[in-house]
Formats: sequence, structure tokens, C-alpha cells
Amino acid sequence: MSMNSDIEKVLFTKEELADKISEMGKAISRDYKGESLLLVSVLKGSVVFMADLMRAIDIECQIDFMVVSSYGNDTVSKGNVKVIKDLDIDLKDYSLLLVEDILDSGMTLNRLKQILSLRQPKSIKVCTLLDKPARRKADINADYKGFDVPDEFIVGYGLDYAEKYRNLPYIGILKPEIYSTDM
Ligand code: IMP
Ligand code: MG
Repeated sequence: MSMNSDIEKVLFTKEELADKISEMGKAISRDYKGESLLLVSVLKGSVVFMADLMRAIDIECQIDFMVVSSYGNDTVSKGNVKVIKDLDIDLKDYSLLLVEDILDSGMTLNRLKQILSLRQPKSIKVCTLLDKPARRKADINADYKGFDVPDEFIVGYGLDYAEKYRNLPYIGILKPEIYSTDM
């Protein structure tokens, strides 16, 4: 079966994503001029966005990756965060930009922000491609945001359901019958 037939509705095409990310890259390049910018991506959902965003930034920057405990195959956040793979870089003097695919409850990112601020970077900000404000539980907002999305299960462009659909080049709403059958 084709992945496309599991999608109820396309929210953002490849072209719409590219235009938005180009704008975000320009804003970040302007705001971080003269600083030691470190982009931190939380694996795995944000890798596709990270790869495109870093090439839309035209000032010097570095990248690093973290792995934290996540949903598994569940669609509801547990809110507990465990660092499974830490950063390689000492954060002192860096301006950190946390790059996320989607800000949902915000529990994960909020905890991560707390953990990383203890290492005293120069600043920490959040850049998310998608924001689902209806589901927010933690007191956290994005400093850079691509698009707001409705309270539906979204896949594609890095976002998965049970590790699938990450390689879709667009973002869409997954048909509810796909995930309701395994719950
Ligand atoms: P939070 O802690 O609830 O904000 O969880 C955010 C993480 O949950 C994201 O980085 C995604 O990996 C995952 N997530 C949240 N909503 C969705 C969705 O609609 N589709 C796929 N993954 C999602
Ligand atoms: Mg993620």
C-alpha cells in the first residue's frame, strides 16, 4: 500500500515548507549575527527540518543532536524526559537554538530547556516547524515558528506514526483509522 493513501488531508506541500523554512532561516541569520550559534535537534522527528533549516541559515553555525525518551508507538505524551544521548559540545558561550518538529504538550521541550540551562549557555531559544497550541500543557512557547496545526495526528517531513511516514516530503493529517486500530 502507498503511504499517500493513509493521509486524510495534505496540510503543507513540499513547496510551502521550503518557502517557510527559507523565511525562518533568514530571520535566524539576522538575529544571531556575530554569535556562536548552535542548532540542537532532538532526534528523530526534527532531522528533516534541521537538514533544511541549517541550509537556509547563511551565518556560521554548528549542529548537535540529542535523544530523549519519547512516545514510542503511543500518540499521547507521557511528559517524562530521560536523556538517552547527550550533546557532545560544552554549551558555555553558545547561543542555543532548540530545533523541533512539533510543539505539542511542550512537556519534553520544557524539561529539556531546564536541563540545558543548567549548563549556562549564553541563551536558549526554541525553533519549531509546527505548533499545536490546543494541546499545550507546559509553559513554553516557540521563539521561531513555522505553522500552527489543528489538534489532529500529523505525519510526514520527519514526523512519524509508529516510525512510519517520516520520509513523506509533505505534511499531512493521518487517517484516524490507521492509529485507532492499534489502541
Ligand atoms: P510534547 O512533549 O507533547 O510537546 O511532544 C512533542 C513530540 O511528540 C514531538 O517532537 C513529536 O515527536 C511528537 N508528536 C507530537 N504530536 C505529534 C503528531 O501530531 N504527530 C507526530 N508526532 C507528534
Ligand atoms: Mg520529536
